[in-house]
Amino acid sequence: MITGAGSGIGRASAKEFAREGARVLVADINFDGVRETAEHIQSAGGFARAVITDVADASSVKNLVEETLKAFPQVHVLLNNAARCAGYCATKGAIIALTKAMAIDYGKEVIRVNCICPGYIDSGLTQSYFEAQPDPGGARAVAGKLHALWRIGQPEEVARLAVFLASDEASFMTGSAVVVDGGFGSGLPPQG
Ligand SMILES: NC(=O)c1ccc[n+]([C@@H]2O[C@H](COP(=O)([O-])OP(=O)(O)OC[C@H]3O[C@@H](n4cnc5c(N)ncnc54)[C@H](O)[C@@H]3O)[C@@H](O)[C@H]2O)c1
Repeated sequence: MITGAGSGIGRASAKEFAREGARVLVADINFDGVRETAEHIQSAGGFARAVITDVADASSVKNLVEETLKAFPQVHVLLNNAARCAGYCATKGAIIALTKAMAIDYGKEVIRVNCICPGYIDSGLTQSYFEAQPDPGGARAVAGKLHALWRIGQPEEVARLAVFLASDEASFMTGSAVVVDGGFGSGLPPQG
């Protein structure tokens, strides 16, 4: 079950999980977006079901859980991807702490909990940010140069990490904050 799957990282992850054979329930506040994601997956021969959900609304989340359990007898992977930009930095540290706390709480039941820390990723979020700048192309180039790899990332590059973390290949990983940021956190590369 993937939230925020109507665009960007969530959509790319839904497609990547489906490509690996997973049946996915895709949720988003933007129903047109998430329906399109489900249609992409279905037209490629996969199984997807779209549910409109506002993750900031408890009753909407309750409905999502009910719809998920109606669609699937068991749920193996939750990808809590939807979030709003405002407050992102303030909540980042809290999410890492929550990941560790949940990993401890559920480890005995062999439920693993990890979080992904991306660099700038080419999604709806960054697109809106660049478009709001006086020189969108220049802003994109500047953002790229903040990364050791001199470019921003693609949603699929995060999606592949999500699939890995959810797989048995990552069976001893829990409570981890895994960085996929093209070297964003490595200090500024030489400019020019
Ligand atoms: N793009 C980046 O550079 C970047 C970097 C670090 C972290 N992130 C995080 O990655 C996640 C995905 O963002 P993205 O870059 O793919 O952006 P995006 O804007 O392309 O996709 C976000 C999706 O979440 C949905 N959404 C927003 N609020 C929602 C709500 N309350 N309930 C349900 N759905 C909601 C939107 O409709 C949209 O489809 C976000 O949590 C974001 O904070 C993104």
